[in-house]
This record gives sequence, structure tokens and C-alpha cells, in this order.
Amino acid sequence: MADIFDFEDFYSSFTIFQAMQKTDVRPFYRTLNERDGTATVDGNEVVMAGSSDYLSLHSDPRVTGAAVKALEEFGTSSSGARAMNGTRALHTELEARLAAFLGTEAAAVTPSGLQANQALSALLNRNTTVFSDAANHASLIDGIRLSGARRISYRHSDTERLAELLARTDSDARSRGTAKVIVTDGLFSMDGDMCRLPELLTLARRHGARVIVDGAHDIGVLGPNGRGVGDHFGLQHAVDLYTGSLAKTFASTGGFLAGPAHVIEYLRWSARSILFSGALPPAALAAAGAALDIIETEPWRRRRATEVAERLRQGLRELGFDTGRSTTPVIPVLAGEATVCTRMWQGLLDAGVFTNAVGSPAVPEGRCVIRITAQAAHTDEHITRILDAFASVGSALGVIPTATAA
Ligand SMILES: Cc1ncc(COP(=O)(O)O)c(C=O)c1O
Repeated sequence: MADIFDFEDFYSSFTIFQAMQKTDVRPFYRTLNERDGTATVDGNEVVMAGSSDYLSLHSDPRVTGAAVKALEEFGTSSSGARAMNGTRALHTELEARLAAFLGTEAAAVTPSGLQANQALSALLNRNTTVFSDAANHASLIDGIRLSGARRISYRHSDTERLAELLARTDSDARSRGTAKVIVTDGLFSMDGDMCRLPELLTLARRHGARVIVDGAHDIGVLGPNGRGVGDHFGLQHAVDLYTGSLAKTFASTGGFLAGPAHVIEYLRWSARSILFSGALPPAALAAAGAALDIIETEPWRRRRATEVAERLRQGLRELGFDTGRSTTPVIPVLAGEATVCTRMWQGLLDAGVFTNAVGSPAVPEGRCVIRITAQAAHTDEHITRILDAFASVGSALGVIPTATAA
């Protein structure tokens, strides 16, 4: 008889688990402390090359100070869901500031970025066709699945294929009154590339589709004003709805949706992940607000993170590594088989660099990557340490030719 506590099939379907056992390496759920581009792992200080705090704000005294002040003034919790008793002035202030920052009519903060994406299920239904990039984040897929909408997945960033798929559903949309929406990550968190926003918007206009962009990794980091991919392409106002996370560049926890006022208001009443979940605590809201102040006033941080990423990418490519399509502070470095990936992760840690190992299903089988991220606080010495570690570990494992690394 089957047993819900029997996980053998689950574990055997992930090659990275088998590789962890074979190599006795544990890249996941490691306990660490992080600060200013470094981390302490097992008592050793290493360069932190695997954080989503791209602007290095989570221990900035202005951010921690704002959190402490809010904690002392308003307590540890918001004590309930927003609709009932959990709304504080800090919620409505942050929502107004996020909307102003992104140039939308309104915004709603949510308990997490995952819940912001799950809230999309309230906008979609069986009469909606969703065109979803194959590399979209799991929480976007959840939002689509929860809604029961028809999901058509297109190969990552393949806008030609997307055009065909949209055209194919045009008559259906006319005869049955189906609604269409294109859903995409702004910055793809595993590939480190941006969505092709100009093409997506052109196609959307041509085929009567809405466009929703998950800006979890790009809002705060990309674009001349740090407003994300929309800002980068000069198309900030053309996107119909943004979702995002406060747990990365905003140095806090939580998420948000930003778009037309009537859509945000409808989501407050209809999205189960907003209605039936405890509101963000005061300290988290204050930290995100202080981070937003810094995002708006210190553009040098995103310029530095971008420069660090460019130097890392260039150095890695010169060493012979494949960094895929990355053009942002997220850089995947191809390792190959899962056992090579786990060994490489451990080797890099032993050489003083913390990274992220990524295996299937997040990436295709046999194409595991070591994912690294650039931060504003990374110094030139950190860059050298990261590149030196990759050179020695990559050549020892045969990922790059030894001669190139010497
Ligand atoms: C692209 C993307 N969207 C949404 C989320 C979810 O955000 P949160 O961590 O705030 O739940 C993540 C987090 O990993 C993400 O990478």
C-alpha cells in the first residue's frame, strides 16, 4: 500500500540528491551569517557570492535602525490579516511609496513574493490563456495553476515561438471570448538574463494580451532609476502589472503587486494569499521603506553591482567557463553533471567562496550550474578571490582546461 510518508520516489527523481550522497557534500540548508559581501560559514569567513541582497543593504545601519525603531514602537507582529486587524500606517505608506517608485496607480504589499504571485490566481480563470516563459519562477507557475487557467509554456525567451502560439489562439479568443496574458520573470533568477520586454509588449499589443512581470530580482537593481526591466528598456508604464519580492534588494521580507488601482483593490478582496494570511510585521515594512530610500538616492550601488558582475563574467569567460546568457548581477557558471557541481561547490567553499549549487529540475539534467551573484559591497579583492577560487577548483575538476587556468 502507498504511504504518504514514503519519499523514496521523490528523492530518487533528483540527481542532485544522489550526487550529494555520492560526494558527501551538503550545499543546501547551510547555516550562515552574511554581512557586506562576506559570510561566516562553520566559523570561517568567506566571500558571499550567493546572496540576493544585490545592493548590500540588509545590515546597513539605516535599514537596521529603521527596523529597530519600528519594532520598539509597534511591536513584533501585525497580529492578523490585513483586512481584519493587521493594517498599520507602515503598510499603506510603503504601498504608496512602491506605487510612486514604479509609476503605477497603486500597490499592495503581501506577506511574501511567493504570495504576490499566487494572488495572480484571482485574476485568471478557466477562460484565460496564459503564455508563460518556461524559465518562470515556481511561484508564478503556482499562481497560474491555482487559477485553473490554460497555461501555454514557451521555450525560454523564444519570442518567435510565442508569436506563433499567440496567433494560433487568436480565433479562439475571438469566438469564445478568452482573455490572454503573457507572464514573465523580469530577470530570470537562474539564467541571469532579462526578459525581452520590448518584443513581449509588441506581441501583447498585436494579440490583445496583458503583460505581467515578476520583478523579484530586477526591481531595485536594473534600469537607470533602479525600477527594473521596465526602466531598463524605457517601458516602465507599458507593463500592465508588476509583482515583486521585498526579500532580496529590499533587504527585508514580503512581496508586492503594483498596477492599476481597481486591479489592486480587487486583489485585496479576492486573492486568498492576501486575504487569509497574516500581515507583514512592522520591522519588515520599515526595513523595506529604508531600503527604498537608499535605492532612490544611491545609484552608485546598482552601478557597482553591475560593474562587479561584468568583471566576474569577463574573468570567468577568460578562464574558459560558460556563463550562459547572463547580462545581470546573476551569473550561472556551467558545471555539468551533478557530482561535478556538488564537488565544485565544496571546492569553492574550501577556497573561501560561498556560492549556490543548482541542479535539475531548476536547470536541465547534466547542465548543473554554480550560480553566483554580484553585490555592491564586493571589493576588488573579493572579485580576485572569487576568480582565483574558480580557476583552481574549475581546473582541478576538469571543468576548464588546466592550461587556461595556470
Ligand atoms: C523570480 C522570483 N519570484 C518570486 C519569488 C518569491 O519571493 P519571496 O522569496 O519573497 O517569497 C522569488 C524568490 O525566490 C523569485 O526568485
